[in-house]
Amino acid sequence: MATLLGPREPGETSIRSSRRSGRPTNPRRAIMFGMPLAAMLMTAPVFAESNATGDPAPGEVAFARRCATCHMVVNESGETLAGRKSKTGPNLYGIAMHEMAMVPDFRYSASMIAAGESGLVWTEENFVGYVMDPTGWLRTTLDDSGARSKMTFKLRKEDDARNIFAYLAALVPGGAAESASEDTSEPEMAKEQVLATIQVSYASDQADRGEKRYKKDCLECHGDDLKGGLNGGAPLRGLAFGKKYFDAMPASVMFEYMSATMPPNAPGRYSENTYAELMAYILKRNGFRAGAPLPTDLDALDRMTIEK
Ligand code: HEC
Ligand code: HEC
Repeated sequence: MATLLGPREPGETSIRSSRRSGRPTNPRRAIMFGMPLAAMLMTAPVFAESNATGDPAPGEVAFARRCATCHMVVNESGETLAGRKSKTGPNLYGIAMHEMAMVPDFRYSASMIAAGESGLVWTEENFVGYVMDPTGWLRTTLDDSGARSKMTFKLRKEDDARNIFAYLAALVPGGAAESASEDTSEPEMAKEQVLATIQVSYASDQADRGEKRYKKDCLECHGDDLKGGLNGGAPLRGLAFGKKYFDAMPASVMFEYMSATMPPNAPGRYSENTYAELMAYILKRNGFRAGAPLPTDLDALDRMTIEK
């Protein structure tokens, strides 16, 4: 996909294709620093190995659950390596040890652009700090109490963040991190373990409370029949919705997406219990039967699949 690649400078291609990710380097940056791009690329430390300390195998699982609702990973040739067609967040291909906010055409927040323009690089530590609290991390790092990230999602577990970093680094040929787990049998097992699951359920009183909240705060966009279409609200019922969330997906995916992004004017404004109630109501309207209550604990939600 040619659109992923920024304008080329002479001498750039061979360096990048031999080792680096296909993430484009912004020519504006080179001008800003007053040196030719090729020279900058030779001196910049961005070619360093990522030195990822995490494990890419569980990182892959965590990425699919936590990040893929918003991010894709698409390489230079336009191949999708991870993600589900979502362009809410930028392409994360080659992010490890790369400068921040460099995907062309992605509309970053002003704060993220500022981070990129100050030359910050996605080291493991920066990555971990950011994904666990994007706005908080930008405020501290930019020393700007008004900084704000467009990424409303917060990853709760540091281990997940390190593993995801290792996974993203490993997706780039020669991008390090192969060292993190040379034993290939173990990650496979780890993956199966994490994926051992039970079918999702919710209590009917949860769904009842969820219905009240839904009618107050969600109906205006998602509609009485949950088919969406009002004010651009997505359908919360039907084939496309089912494909996204009921195809043996862990229950945590919908729960986290909703609590990170809904309602759009105040994401995360409710308690975890309220989000669980809203989700119970959505499940009910999609034909799932009531039973044991839907938990709010992420580990428990991870172990539940939503399957039709
Ligand atoms: C609800 C949607 C959403 C989810 C879920 C999400 N992100 Fe993001 N992410 C975004 C958006 C939007 C941006 C752009 C932020 C900005 O411009 O301030 C972003 C930006 C980023 C960036 C900066 C990229 C760059 O080009 O410099 C990284 C790194 C990142 N996200 C990692 C992750 C990881 C890892 C996960 C999963 C743990 C994740 N995100 C989950 C929406 C999301
Ligand atoms: C102002 C309109 C608006 C309101 C209010 C709103 N939503 Fe949304 N919702 C949207 C839009 C727009 C999307 C699609 C976002 C996207 O694709 O980036 C969406 C997406 C979703 C999704 C994911 C759908 C998918 O296909 O992945 C869920 C679940 C959801 N909303 C639940 C809720 C709940 C629960 C509430 C009430 C607390 C709510 N929304 C309130 C506009 C709204």
